[in-house]
Amino acid sequence: MNISIFNKILQLKKEKNAIILAHYYQRPEIQEIADFVGDSYYLSKVARDCSEDIVVFCGVKFMAESAKIMSPQKTILLPAIDAGCPMADMAEAEEVQKMKEDHPNAAVVAYINSSTEVKALCDVCVTSSSAEKIISKIENDEILFLPDKNLGGYIAEKFPDKKFILWDGFCITHAKVNKDSIIELKNILEDVQVLVHPECEKEIRDIADYIGSTSGIIERATVSENKSYVVVTEKGILHELKKKNPHKNFYTPGATMTCMNMKKTTLEDVYASLLNMKHAIEIDEKMRLKALNALVNMHNMAK
Ligand code: 13P
Ligand code: SF4
Repeated sequence: MNISIFNKILQLKKEKNAIILAHYYQRPEIQEIADFVGDSYYLSKVARDCSEDIVVFCGVKFMAESAKIMSPQKTILLPAIDAGCPMADMAEAEEVQKMKEDHPNAAVVAYINSSTEVKALCDVCVTSSSAEKIISKIENDEILFLPDKNLGGYIAEKFPDKKFILWDGFCITHAKVNKDSIIELKNILEDVQVLVHPECEKEIRDIADYIGSTSGIIERATVSENKSYVVVTEKGILHELKKKNPHKNFYTPGATMTCMNMKKTTLEDVYASLLNMKHAIEIDEKMRLKALNALVNMHNMAK
């Protein structure tokens, strides 16, 4: 580990009264330098509730934008400005507006992995850890869920009385996983559980012992007594899993479960971000206010 840059970041963070947040998919050294590491919902809450003036958000753009929507008075920094989310880019506001018009009675639910413009058109946001609880509180019979057809499909199975209209988006990282490679591992390993993120396709979810968000997967592996786990989500999660469970074995299927966008942030980026106050998220105030509603509803309904 690069101790000198580590110390430089810690000092600058103190001088500037900043806090560093990191998603579980970030590089191990970024998770180590962070004050808080977590899933999308948890990080959104920490960014909203923290007392620091500056939040360095080590994640992807929709996460930093969501923090700015909720806390406009804070400086929200995204160290790697080109760290986007291809899934979020799969839903454009203009098309969402058209879909809304085609389904006037539907509640419009956006995965937090969406742009600010799309959030502005939605009734409520969800994350993978909060979606079930939030949707259980929606009275509409019809739900327009976007952009992730896989998380939407997973949640729809839990509400058979509701009609779900699913957007055709997906996570390119979770789509890469191959069912046979999971089955192969399951057959070789003893005393194993398969832990799957709901962004995976149905055929993968169907062979899971547990389906949940990144924090759900970590919790499940930590409380279970099994020796081995096949972890079907982005590889960055292995850092926290191994830290919490040093005597258990973790495997990921194949070599492809890496989100290139989540891996863009380096320690050098975090240092430069704090030093030069880059890249500060700016959102048009009218747009921010429109998008705020969906995020406030998310936090209220997830309680
Ligand atoms: P969670 O950490 O909420 O499970 O989200 C996963 C993800 O893909 C974030 O981009
Ligand atoms: Fe987007 Fe998937 Fe990467 Fe998460 S893991 S940021 S959903 S591409």
